[in-house]
Amino acid sequence: MNIRSLLSVGVLVFGSLSIAAQTASKVPAKLIQKSASPEGSQVALTPPMGWNSWNFFHRNVTDQDIRNAADQLVSTGMKDAGYVYVNIDDTWEGERDADGVLHTNAKFPDMKALADYVHSKGLKLGIYSSPGPQTCAGFAASLDHETQDARLYASWGVDYLKYDLCSYREAVMSVQSPEDKAAQMRLMFAAYDKMDKALKATGRPIVYSLCQYGWDAVWEWGPNVGANLWRTTGDIQPSWQSIYSILGEQEGLAKYAGPGHWNDPDMLEVGNGKLSLAENRAHFSMWAMLAAPLLAGNDLPNMTPEVRAVLTNRDVIAIDQDRLGHEATHAYSDGEVDVWTRHLSGGALAIAVLNAGPDRYSTHPFHLSLAKLGLHGTLKGKNLWTGDEIALTDDMPLEIASHDILLVRVQAPK
Ligand code: GLA
Repeated sequence: MNIRSLLSVGVLVFGSLSIAAQTASKVPAKLIQKSASPEGSQVALTPPMGWNSWNFFHRNVTDQDIRNAADQLVSTGMKDAGYVYVNIDDTWEGERDADGVLHTNAKFPDMKALADYVHSKGLKLGIYSSPGPQTCAGFAASLDHETQDARLYASWGVDYLKYDLCSYREAVMSVQSPEDKAAQMRLMFAAYDKMDKALKATGRPIVYSLCQYGWDAVWEWGPNVGANLWRTTGDIQPSWQSIYSILGEQEGLAKYAGPGHWNDPDMLEVGNGKLSLAENRAHFSMWAMLAAPLLAGNDLPNMTPEVRAVLTNRDVIAIDQDRLGHEATHAYSDGEVDVWTRHLSGGALAIAVLNAGPDRYSTHPFHLSLAKLGLHGTLKGKNLWTGDEIALTDDMPLEIASHDILLVRVQAPK
């Protein structure tokens, strides 16, 4: 498993150096201990599911792409499987007018009409901003306009905000407290708290997604700024190396997740890049085990039947959406194989056996130790990728292809 590297950031484009009104010394220490707000627990009682534009479209996303995504969520059955949020990531923003009101750019001619369209499909709309002066892609962001922007989102009918640290670090944290890391982190906390209050003040339920790459152990304080989810790592890429590295970074975080507040190992890359079917399956399975938000990020109009089958596997989605919200923990590894377990409602257990190695294991099959999982006897379960019944016994040999996974739901573990 990989060593956590929380200070690595993907792409950050830093903007102008305008300075925030708040200073580190003005942030009361007790703010950091305040309890989670009850309103925050009304949304995202299970990990949010939907689609986000960034992983496939990056900077090129348009209004039409968002409408197409909404159409496709319905026609492919993804909406029925639980995918409801249609999230516009960075690059929708235009300029502010003399009153400070932010306008969309030419790619998004009428955000209210777009929101109405998405809502007319029975779906919800997500949007993106930053606490800094500019977003990661260099567009106008919310610094000193938090209340105004939150009201604007609510007036459009936005249901979800991803709030990405980006230029706030260079423009505010580094400028106001250049030598004091702790003060910088308090500024970051205050910025996220400020937008939470602005969102709550609108009276509209809006899922609040923090994106600051896991800095300062965000899982410890995310709920205190009303976060429903928080990124735990840098940006995901559509490669096995990236996916497996992020998986390793989730160890130890399970206790911080639960209904209304989730660890976010970043959006799905299922169907993107050159991921094999096994890799797509393993990635999706492990994100479900982690109780991760399931935000697809692929080209929905050109999705293959195989990718669609992965994304709409109801049994796997049921693991992710289990109402207890207990995130999986890493039970043990043996050679290149990792075993994770997740406790589910009704006393059930999900067991994931992942072959992270580059080769097939058949010359020396992996032997699953039930004893190491605290289990014994013959466990009857369902193989969630074949749909077949399976009986697990202690030390049983398992052949799992490279980068593939065995995912089993055991109804009555003993
Ligand atoms: C950061 C985030 C990504 C994406 C881009 C947009 O890199 O981590 O998920 O939102 O910004 O610019």
